[in-house]
Amino acid sequence: MTDSLQAAPNLALNEIVARRRAAGEPLIHLAFGEARLPVPAEVLDWLSTGARRTEYGPVAGDERVRSSLARYFDRRRLPTSPEQIVVAPGSKPLLMSLMAVVDGDVLLPSPSWVTYEPQARLFGRHVHRVPVPAEYGGAPDPSALRESIRTARRGGGNPRLLVLTLPDNPTGTLPPPEAIRQVSAVAEEEDLLIVSDEIYRDILHDPGLPFLSPAEEAPERTVICTGLSKSLGLGGWRIGAARFPVGRRGDLLRTRTVAVASEVWSTLAGPMQEVATRAFDEPKVITEHFLAGARLHGAVTRAVHTLVTTAGASCRAPQGGFYLYPDFEPVRESLDEHGVTDSVSLQRHLLDNLGVAVLGGHHFGDDPGALRFRIATSLLYGDDSAQRERALTAEAPLSTPHITLTLDQLAEAFDALTPRKGIHV
Ligand SMILES: Cc1ncc(COP(=O)(O)O)c(C=O)c1O
Repeated sequence: MTDSLQAAPNLALNEIVARRRAAGEPLIHLAFGEARLPVPAEVLDWLSTGARRTEYGPVAGDERVRSSLARYFDRRRLPTSPEQIVVAPGSKPLLMSLMAVVDGDVLLPSPSWVTYEPQARLFGRHVHRVPVPAEYGGAPDPSALRESIRTARRGGGNPRLLVLTLPDNPTGTLPPPEAIRQVSAVAEEEDLLIVSDEIYRDILHDPGLPFLSPAEEAPERTVICTGLSKSLGLGGWRIGAARFPVGRRGDLLRTRTVAVASEVWSTLAGPMQEVATRAFDEPKVITEHFLAGARLHGAVTRAVHTLVTTAGASCRAPQGGFYLYPDFEPVRESLDEHGVTDSVSLQRHLLDNLGVAVLGGHHFGDDPGALRFRIATSLLYGDDSAQRERALTAEAPLSTPHITLTLDQLAEAFDALTPRKGIHV
């Protein structure tokens, strides 16, 4: 009997790489979406202040943390009351609860973050994949979305929930405002709920890039999820939040989500509520950390973008977060010589023969026959907090010795992936 319920591929691969590295294999790990930033001293102080908070407290989070998040959204053109907010141990359980409490099928961009589809399937939801355009990821092509909804309904499906990722994992890009307007209009016409995963919003490489949330366009039907795992690199602390719409639909969704929370995780840990309260108020130490992180993510993703395109891949230019999603289709023939014909064999060849761990496009719901994979560049910032501190504060991060060394090794590996005839013997 085969069991379709398996550990998430990104977490499983992370553990495999850790084991192989511990055994002495010099692997370059680019397969795990962890921000790898040093923690500011002030944030550590907030955590220790919060350590005395041992009571459970309200399921949705206490008034202080929900007010802090309401102000965070106010500053982003989204007037919000504390009653619209629920905090949780990470945004993952909030996303999962939404899959549980909304009836009907789920529409996902292809590719999209590894977790959405398995979460939907945990609750027996049918998933419809909608391709993203060549220019950006994170939101489906609006006309393809309309078409997919029609096709799904003709086949007896009931698409109800659309997930967007702004900016996107895996492509590292941000859909332009016009695309969000069009997708929000389709959601209105077709009566969809939008879940807008904005966990990377505060780490756009160019803070001036126009960002439009579907919550501005379709306010009564958009739930926003966010957290501190990426912008502050606090993934292991598990701090997530959701902003529910006002109105009957929003109230119902929030009530149901709080019901799930009350039966599963009870509330966000007290010390983490303390950290979240302070961080979402965005004092200078936090805004500066966001900016420094975004600068580092931008510099390193752009450098790796140059490496993959030099090796012959096509790849969208990175705009936010720390991801790239190269497509090696233009060099399919030379990959074929290594027995690489799809994203499974490409991921395996990179790991076993070239010492580079990446996550193949098939894990993101992409066509398994394509030659695409996701690179998480943030793992290059260093293995310990001293190296990460140096990377974050360096005038020219690419010149820090440990980053330069790994980029050189990566250049060699990608070059060996597609040896050009006449250059390599
Ligand atoms: C798009 C996206 N959403 C959500 C998450 C999960 O974040 P959290 O740590 O808040 O559960 C991740 C983490 O990789 C992510 O990439």
